[in-house]
Formats: sequence, C-alpha cells, structure tokens
Amino acid sequence: MTTERDSDVATRGAALFRLKPVTAQDAGELRRTLGLGALTSIGIGATLGTGIFVILGQAVPAAGPAVVLSFVLAGVTALLSALSYAELAGMIPVAGSAYSYAYATLGELVAWVCGWCLHLEYGISIGAIAVGWGQYLNELLALATGSRLPDALSQPPDAGGIVNLPSVVVVLLAMVFLLRGARETAWATSVMVVVKVVTLVFFCAVAFTALRAENLEPFAPLGIAGVSAASATLFFSYIGFDAASTAGQEARHPQRDMPRAIMLALVVVTVLYCLVALAAVGAMPWTAFAGTDAALSQIVTTRLQQPVWGALIAVGAVVATASVVLTVLYGQTRILYSMSRDGLVPPVFARVHPRTGVPRANTLIVSVFVAVLAAVVPLGKLADATSIGALFAFGLVNIAVVVLRRTRPDHPRGFRVPWSPLLPVLGVGCCVYLMFSLDVETWVIFGLWMLLGLVVYFGYGLRHSHLRTENR
Ligand code: ALA
Repeated sequence: MTTERDSDVATRGAALFRLKPVTAQDAGELRRTLGLGALTSIGIGATLGTGIFVILGQAVPAAGPAVVLSFVLAGVTALLSALSYAELAGMIPVAGSAYSYAYATLGELVAWVCGWCLHLEYGISIGAIAVGWGQYLNELLALATGSRLPDALSQPPDAGGIVNLPSVVVVLLAMVFLLRGARETAWATSVMVVVKVVTLVFFCAVAFTALRAENLEPFAPLGIAGVSAASATLFFSYIGFDAASTAGQEARHPQRDMPRAIMLALVVVTVLYCLVALAAVGAMPWTAFAGTDAALSQIVTTRLQQPVWGALIAVGAVVATASVVLTVLYGQTRILYSMSRDGLVPPVFARVHPRTGVPRANTLIVSVFVAVLAAVVPLGKLADATSIGALFAFGLVNIAVVVLRRTRPDHPRGFRVPWSPLLPVLGVGCCVYLMFSLDVETWVIFGLWMLLGLVVYFGYGLRHSHLRTENR
C-alpha cells in the first residue's frame, strides 16, 4: 500500500529530473541592446585577463618551453566546448548559460549543480581576480612612484593584510558601470578589450626580437605529464569565453550573433595566448620563470632592459584585469537572474529596474558580497577550484548538445556542432582529462562547494522551483 509520505517522496524524486521545455525559456524583462561586436567584446573581456599576465610563472616551470603545447591543449578543450556552447546559445538564447541548457536537457538537479559550478566559475573567481588587480596596481605604483600601498590595506589576510582595499575599489567600480546598463557595460568593455589586445600584441612584437633558439631546448623537459599538468593550471586563462552566453536576453539577434561571438572570442584569445607563450619562452630561459608573478612585464623590464615598456605592459595588465572583473560580474548577475526566474533562488535576483533595464538589487547584492569576499578572504588559492567548476559545467554543456540532438532533432539551431556526437564526446573527454590533472586539494575544495550547493538546493530551490509548483 502506498502511503502519503511515499507519494510525496516520489513527487520530490520526479521533480529532481523535471525538464524545463526549450520553448518555455522565457523572454524576461532585460533589454535587447547588444550586437555582434558587443557580444564578442564580452567574451574576450571575460577571458583575456589575469591568467595570461601571471600564469606563466606557474605553468612554465611545470612544462618547460612545451607550455606552448599546454596552451594548445587547453585551447582545444575550450574550443570543443565552445562549439557546444555556440549550438545551445543559438537554440536557447536566455541569460542562464550552461545552467539553462542543463535545465532543458538533464533535469532540475543537474541544472542546479551546473548553476552552482557557474557560481564558482564566475562569482568566486571575481574575488580572486580582484585580488590580482590589487597586486598589479601596487606593482604599477611602485614602478611609477617608488612606493606601495601599505600591506595592511592591500594584501590578502594570508600575506599580512587586514583589508584588501584595491579589490574592493575595482569591484565597486564595475558595479557602477553595471548599474548604468548593459550597453554602457559593453562600451566600457570594448575600450578595455582594445587596450589589452594591443598590450599583448606589443609584448609579442618586443619579445620576438629577443627570441633565442637555445631557450626552446630541451623543449619538453618534464614530458607529457608536465604538459598536461600545466594545461590544467593555465585553463584558468581560458575561462570566460562562455560569458557571451549569459547575454542571451540582451542580444539583438541572439540566434545569429551569439554562436559567432562565442567562437570569435575564443579564436582571438587562443591565437594570442599561443603567440604570447612562444614569445615569452623564446625570450627567457624556462628555468627563470619559477616564482615570477608578472612574467610578461618582467621579461621586458629585465631581459630587454626596457623599464618604460615594462611599465606599459603593467598598465595593460591593470586594464585587462579590470575588464575581467566587469564582464564576469555581469555574467554572475545574469546567471542568478535566470535561476531566480525559475524560482531556484529568491525572487529579489530577478527584479529589473524599469528605467535602466538592469537587475539592480541583484547587481548590488552580488557586488557587495564579492567585494567583502575579496577584501577579507584569501582567495589566491581558488584559481584551480574555479577551473574545475568551469570544466564540470563545460562537460555538461557538451552532454546537453548530444541529448538535445536526440530529443529535439528538428528544433531550429543557429549553429550546429560539426561531426556530432564525436566532437561533443571528445569535448567531455578533454574536460574530464583536465579535471583529473588538477591536484587533490582542488578536488576537496570542489567537493565541499558542491556539498554546500546541495544543502542550499534541498533547503530552498527544490521547494520554490516554479516548474514544481506549476505542475502540482
Ligand atoms: N580567464 C580569466 C582570466 O584569465 C578568468 O583572468
């Protein structure tokens, strides 16, 4: 005999796997103001930043000059996932990115897990990136004036600081832009994207003049294991190409422009990264990279004896990092907006201001939360945790493509991944491979984060889900 309790448990169980129909992806109240250029800027803006300016100090000692191959491997992983993002962004053009794709294909619980991973990829990483911004700013102050901000006001707590003031400043500046509107945010992002691309092209032009063939030998002193370990670490620098997919409800022609923007952003970033890596290891022996925080400006300042050019690169790094903070903060607010419209997080995150068309309360809450986090929590160690969260979400997006090809074969798609299911399956394989190249500590942080996510889902999301209440 079935008791009332049994049937309640069964209903809850079914709710975990309920799908949000592709056609039920709502239009929302955000304004459609962004074209292809703005969307591509958001992608490059969110991707190209802290990573490429600092990661060589960790990645080159792990792989040697073969770090160039590590960039290619991470780039291919990102590219395979970007193809899947492009197909789904054209098909389900809403603000929730991978979370919305998972909701349409793999059910509510997986969608929640995916959304929770995106909070790690976006929300927590902004804190880590803001901390990096403060470090660059201090470097720049030291180069320009010879003095630095006091440690108590500029360092994370694990390095002798009390409050990391520069991180708070950059997050609050980004908040001011976001509150003005998506178009203003995109405009500021475009300007900063130009500055950082020019900075990296400038670095390549200068560093290639110092290229020595002997610096490239031995090419892979630590073998394939070194190449893949470095690849997993530097994957952080590719995170963000998916940010354009959080703008689905603000794109003027989402079906046409979003797939193009995602691919274009990733191709530009991958080509630049590989060139920068080659120029860097060609200009400085790989053994000299260990412990360098600002490898690119150091190469120019110390190897090429051009301190003014080195300072220019540091300026580019400050701008680049600020633009990542701005665009990633934008993405985080839009993911929460989507989750809130589905009832999985409180309704305050979906309230849109009538004049600016911006989710104002959402932007304020997220910015203040991230600013406090960056000010007082030592986040520097979280970069790898951010990568594992992103890799997990990317893997799910690849799976979602394969599922939707079976369940909705005739639904119009602005873009189709070629050779499906081969490429999406390869995409999943690459994500899993890189996840397993990360260390145990990263897995423990990831596990604890997911556990917290499940507590929040069963404590709030499951009970407030709109799909669940609509289907009662
Ligand atoms: N890809 C972003 C960066 O490197 C997170 O800053």
